Amino acid sequence: MKHTLHEKIVVNRPIEECFAYLKDFSSIEQWDPGVYRARKLTPYGVAVGTEYEILLKLPAGKQVSMRYRQAVINEPRELILHGEGDNFSAIDTLNLQAISPTRTEIDYRAELDLRWLPAPLKPLIKPMLNRIGKKAISGLKRALTIPGTPSNRRLWHDILDKLVVPATLSFGKRGYLSLPRKSHSSRMDGKIVAITGPTAGLGLDTACELARLGATLILIGRSKQKLSNAAKQIQRFSACSENTLHLVEADLASLEATAAAAQQITTSLPPIDVLINNAGALFATREETNEGFERALAVNFLAPVLLSKLLSPHLNDNSRVINVVSGGLYFQGIKLDDLQFRSEPYDGSKAYARAKRALLYMSNESTTKTSYFTMHPGWAATPGVAKSLPAFNKRLQHFMRDSRMGADTMIWLATAPELQAYKEPQLWFDRHPHTFDVLPNTKSNPNEIQQLKNWTTAALAQFQ
Ligand SMILES: NC(=O)c1ccc[n+]([C@@H]2O[C@H](COP(=O)([O-])OP(=O)(O)OC[C@H]3O[C@@H](n4cnc5c(N)ncnc54)[C@H](OP(=O)(O)O)[C@@H]3O)[C@@H](O)[C@H]2O)c1
Repeated sequence: MKHTLHEKIVVNRPIEECFAYLKDFSSIEQWDPGVYRARKLTPYGVAVGTEYEILLKLPAGKQVSMRYRQAVINEPRELILHGEGDNFSAIDTLNLQAISPTRTEIDYRAELDLRWLPAPLKPLIKPMLNRIGKKAISGLKRALTIPGTPSNRRLWHDILDKLVVPATLSFGKRGYLSLPRKSHSSRMDGKIVAITGPTAGLGLDTACELARLGATLILIGRSKQKLSNAAKQIQRFSACSENTLHLVEADLASLEATAAAAQQITTSLPPIDVLINNAGALFATREETNEGFERALAVNFLAPVLLSKLLSPHLNDNSRVINVVSGGLYFQGIKLDDLQFRSEPYDGSKAYARAKRALLYMSNESTTKTSYFTMHPGWAATPGVAKSLPAFNKRLQHFMRDSRMGADTMIWLATAPELQAYKEPQLWFDRHPHTFDVLPNTKSNPNEIQQLKNWTTAALAQFQ
């Protein structure tokens, strides 16, 4: 059975931006609700012959794979792709036309050949296919439309957050998959993004996407070899050039090394538009760094605070600092009398969650003109989770997000134009602001937060 879907939309974006977004067909996972995941199989730039794997959603959480091949690229007007699945093929054509310097018409045509379906069934299946086509094209319109204002806190989010268990259910992939808008279509050309922990997991996926959007990246990691491997992976994903990636070596467990990295950046690299404090770690046993700090506190709290502070002269009023914390902080309050976890038996998850909560409070306390955003990624399958929480990772493997889903809000916070000048202290999750003081024994009062600030200032004094 053959069937053609044909839809048109007009979007308020220049034709070049629309084309840049659509040219890499793997962006389809961000706008077509019928697509679960899409992956560019051919490394580096998109050209005729570039191949993609597209996983289409089927009922009951199942997926079916299709392989697409870029057949025609006429920049910036036309893209044609040929797709093949088992007993199923498609020719997708996207024609773009500038109707003004800031408005573009997109004509989308998909010629489907459902070989497994007998022609007499066409009248039954046609309305469903048309519905799928309409959803895809309206998803594309949403993907290319920049909202005017950021989201507000929603009452039902607050209620779910306060009930804790329903909120944590959204930490898995279902939470991400139910997002109405998943696109990253705002270009980052000319922007400088510094990111810690770009060698694995969420940080690597964030770096890949930001490079695809045109950002220049400062990659801060503790191993030269891993940084260089990450840079290669970012280039293969995004086709960015080598000179848009700057590698800075620093073990963030050492505040001296963190300060040296900040010094290297401020003296030899361009000013930063976005700093993402993503590196983090959860440890099974208590150990102190050479500088006398409990490791989880040093990596998850002291290093990002110090790095943000030392890089602040290199940030501007429009810069953003994004601090990555964890949903685990919902269950832990800070312990001012034992920030270093010396008195009670060590519990890595508690130490980690307390350090993340301390980072949230310090982000909210920032008095600079830079906007601070604190986010948590939900539960994402990453090398870090596999290593530090193997039982959790195994038990929840079907429930967890993949790392690109976990990275989504980080990327969105770095790129969303509607967040410019946003200053409200919030905890962002799945592109929405959330409440963070839910359980009564976890909340610190202003006096306690001031004490945390004083302790931190004293602890960091020798490294500034
Ligand atoms: N995945 C989740 O479900 C989840 C949930 C809540 C919060 N988070 C937070 O999300 C962030 C990313 O986590 P992930 O799951 O992607 O972790 P991951 O897979 O372990 O990656 C962590 C990254 O941080 C780097 N890093 C760790 N310790 C470092 C140190 N001492 N100095 C310099 N770099 C260091 C790692 O570098 P190496 O490659 O050298 O190890 C790696 O690049 C973390 O802040 C984590 O706490 C994750």
